[in-house]
Amino acid sequence: MKTTLLMATTLDGKIGRNSSHLVDWAGREDRKLFIKLTKDAGVIIMGSNTFDTIGEPLPKRKNIVLTRNKSRIKETLPNALSGDENLIFTDKTPEEIVKDLIAQGFKSVVLIGGSQINSLFLKAKLINKIYVTIVPRFFGTGLSMLSEETDVKLDLIKTQQMPNGHILLIYSVHY
Ligand SMILES: NC(=O)c1ccc[n+]([C@@H]2O[C@H](COP(=O)([O-])OP(=O)(O)OC[C@H]3O[C@@H](n4cnc5c(N)ncnc54)[C@H](OP(=O)(O)O)[C@@H]3O)[C@@H](O)[C@H]2O)c1
Repeated sequence: MKTTLLMATTLDGKIGRNSSHLVDWAGREDRKLFIKLTKDAGVIIMGSNTFDTIGEPLPKRKNIVLTRNKSRIKETLPNALSGDENLIFTDKTPEEIVKDLIAQGFKSVVLIGGSQINSLFLKAKLINKIYVTIVPRFFGTGLSMLSEETDVKLDLIKTQQMPNGHILLIYSVHY
């Protein structure tokens, strides 16, 4: 299973101003990349704060939302993770989620944030590739890509200049 983390960040390394900040600031090219990679994979994983900023499941993709909120999890049908349902709330571990997706025939999955869920998957050594769009602006304060202390090295695979001064960086993770 190929697990790709897809993020946009400001030049000062912020992925959002706060936990409820919608990512509507990363530009058209980043949005196009997001749609392509997530639709190609067919499945996305995110934390409940990120889901709440979007407010609804993204169409034509399985949306897996991590939460510890039991009443949200109860809204999900018992076999949803292995079935056709489009929106799944779960408190399964990253390893269990990936195992379920492999069993269902998915070959890749895109992790779309936020900080907490990125750290959770990195700690489980389940992120293989990272796509980061650097957006030329500053927030000054805000959330970084990870919520916990870590020391993981990355190998640069590719850099690509995008319109409007955006830069795409692609890394593989060196565990
Ligand atoms: N720039 C970008 O590309 C980008 C992309 C995505 C998101 N973001 C930004 O990231 C921010 C949100 O990130 P965040 O770190 O605040 O939140 P998050 O990672 O999206 O979600 C955190 C939530 O996930 C659930 N959770 C955490 N650990 C869990 C576990 N082990 N098992 C089950 N559920 C777990 C909890 O939900 P419950 O509280 O429901 O239990 C927790 O509150 C927003 O500002 C958003 O805009 C930016």
